[in-house]
Amino acid sequence: MITEKTKAQPLDGAVVAARIKDEVAGQVEAMAQTRDYRPCLAAVRVGDDPASAVYVRNKIKACEEVGIRSEHHALPESTTTEELLNLVNSLNVRDDVDGILTQLPLPRGIDETTIIEAIDPSKDVDGFHPINAGKLAMGRPVFVPCTPAGIIELLDFNAIEIRGLNACVVGRSQIVGRPMAQLLLQRDATVTICHSRTRDLAAGTREADLLVVAIGRAGMIGREHIKPGAIVVDVGMNKISEEQEVHALFGDAAEKRLEVVAKRGYTLVGDVHPAEASEVAGMLTPVPGGVGLLTVAMLMKNTLKAATLKHGLNP
Ligand code: GUN
Repeated sequence: MITEKTKAQPLDGAVVAARIKDEVAGQVEAMAQTRDYRPCLAAVRVGDDPASAVYVRNKIKACEEVGIRSEHHALPESTTTEELLNLVNSLNVRDDVDGILTQLPLPRGIDETTIIEAIDPSKDVDGFHPINAGKLAMGRPVFVPCTPAGIIELLDFNAIEIRGLNACVVGRSQIVGRPMAQLLLQRDATVTICHSRTRDLAAGTREADLLVVAIGRAGMIGREHIKPGAIVVDVGMNKISEEQEVHALFGDAAEKRLEVVAKRGYTLVGDVHPAEASEVAGMLTPVPGGVGLLTVAMLMKNTLKAATLKHGLNP
């Protein structure tokens, strides 16, 4: 008997990101009309990391799309912690700046923690300051890191009931893994966190009705890690260019991806093995086109929130 393999339903980030940005644009316009004020985001980038340059450019472009003012501060690789602190402090005290972000990773010579802790928590639209991380951990979130916040929006948009699910987060970074676990806990999921020292990764992930993966290793989560029918959210964004690797990861879709490699020199793949996961999972976020787009949309939402709170309004 020939049985047709059913493929996981793709969870499309583009639709949700567009919806969030539309909402933000409407509220920004209303603020401009009623308060004669437009929110402003200051994005700071240090050094020559090409990926960071792309990310910051996308953030500035999103600001333009939703009517938020923006400033792009690009500093040289040789910038010292003190020089960057001076810039952050000058942005902290400016009344016309609502949100401040420093694109990570910062160059090795700069003390990242010192910089993150210097940002005024009321302008910390990335949600990385310990005050904001602490409030989230206490169940009283104000500014929540954009990627995990976007994942919650994606699940809500698709009417996925989080309450009571067994959720597994793979990765424990300050940017994604930890805040993701906190948000899922706040929504009454039973949360497990797995990481690089977890003894039996597959045993942990296979229990999960909802699996969120943020580890930064191309295609590492395969068939054996996924509970049949699970909702799988792939936060990874890895560049690959080897033909063999493209075939191994994409199966039937490899030819299309190889065309992308021929054109750009690489194709993007998440931390989840796309061909294997699509045969086991019930729902799966694509890479690209999944979580990545939501991060920028949520940054817009956080920047509007910072401006709204500054005006003493309810966000
Ligand atoms: N680097 C990777 N993700 C992020 C993010 O969400 N914000 C900042 N500032 N840097 C990052």
